[in-house]
Amino acid sequence: MTFTEDDMGVGALGDPGIEPVIAMRGVRADLGSRPVLRGIDLTVAHGEVVALLGANGSGKSTAIRTLIGQVPVSAGEIALFGTERRRFRDWARVGYVPQRTTAAGGVPATVTEIVSSGRLSRARFGVLRKADHAAVRRALELVGMADRAKDSVNALSGGQHQRVLIARALAAEPELLIMDEPMAGVDLASQEVLAQTLREQVAAGTTVLLVLHELGPLEPLIDRAVVLRDGCVLHDGPPPRAVGQHALPGHDHVHPHEHTPVRTGLLS
Ligand SMILES: Nc1ncnc2c1ncn2[C@@H]1O[C@H](COP(=O)(O)OP(=O)(O)OP(=O)(O)O)[C@@H](O)[C@H]1O
Ligand SMILES: [Mg+2]
Repeated sequence: MTFTEDDMGVGALGDPGIEPVIAMRGVRADLGSRPVLRGIDLTVAHGEVVALLGANGSGKSTAIRTLIGQVPVSAGEIALFGTERRRFRDWARVGYVPQRTTAAGGVPATVTEIVSSGRLSRARFGVLRKADHAAVRRALELVGMADRAKDSVNALSGGQHQRVLIARALAAEPELLIMDEPMAGVDLASQEVLAQTLREQVAAGTTVLLVLHELGPLEPLIDRAVVLRDGCVLHDGPPPRAVGQHALPGHDHVHPHEHTPVRTGLLS
């Protein structure tokens, strides 16, 4: 006989439905003696897909980096999976794809090495076993990079590199996936691959917080949008229409709008 979560009673598996996966309250952060986050509230429930939107410099990356402990907070509270972030140790449950920078450097690693590094948090004593190698292969297949497994990452295009970073986060099979502009510099075909990858993760119950500039192909997946402006939350609710399909570059506005689009100006 197998037991389901229900049989074991609420709480037996850590209450996935009750404690939010991410809870930020009144979070403030200063960088270079400047206030960058000025009291952010952000809650992400189990299985939710939340987009973090806002203009350049509004504090999206900083908000995400406070979550994973890369930026210190000067006030407020952060909890991950119901545990105060400072006490949170279960980082294998979290996958993080940082915002891509142009700065390369270091020793060129192969695609497989990069993706395997994402699995280390799950590997016992840092040694990858059969199941770990299988997870790495699966992640590479998911993002359509299995045929480049042995290549040096230096031989990849920007968009391919981005896919490898996403595969690295997926290799750990995280319950929470945090991605900072995963679509930046990625062509439409690759965006579709990533959207499909994300769809599968979401269907499997993964919670997702992602920074985006426009919703693009991910729009159908997004449950909620949180828009930042100047370090504050400007909007928290349904994805604003003005940042949906109609804000995509190349949208030619030839069809008549059923409703007058609301000019939220959220992204300017
Ligand atoms: N290390 C740092 N030192 C000082 N200021 C910083 C630092 N990192 C970011 N900032 C400032 O904090 C503000 C928010 O930056 P952040 O990177 O969070 O914005 P963002 O919303 O992610 O922007 P983008 O859309 O360009 O990625 C900006 O004004 C930026 O100049
Ligand atoms: Mg950013």
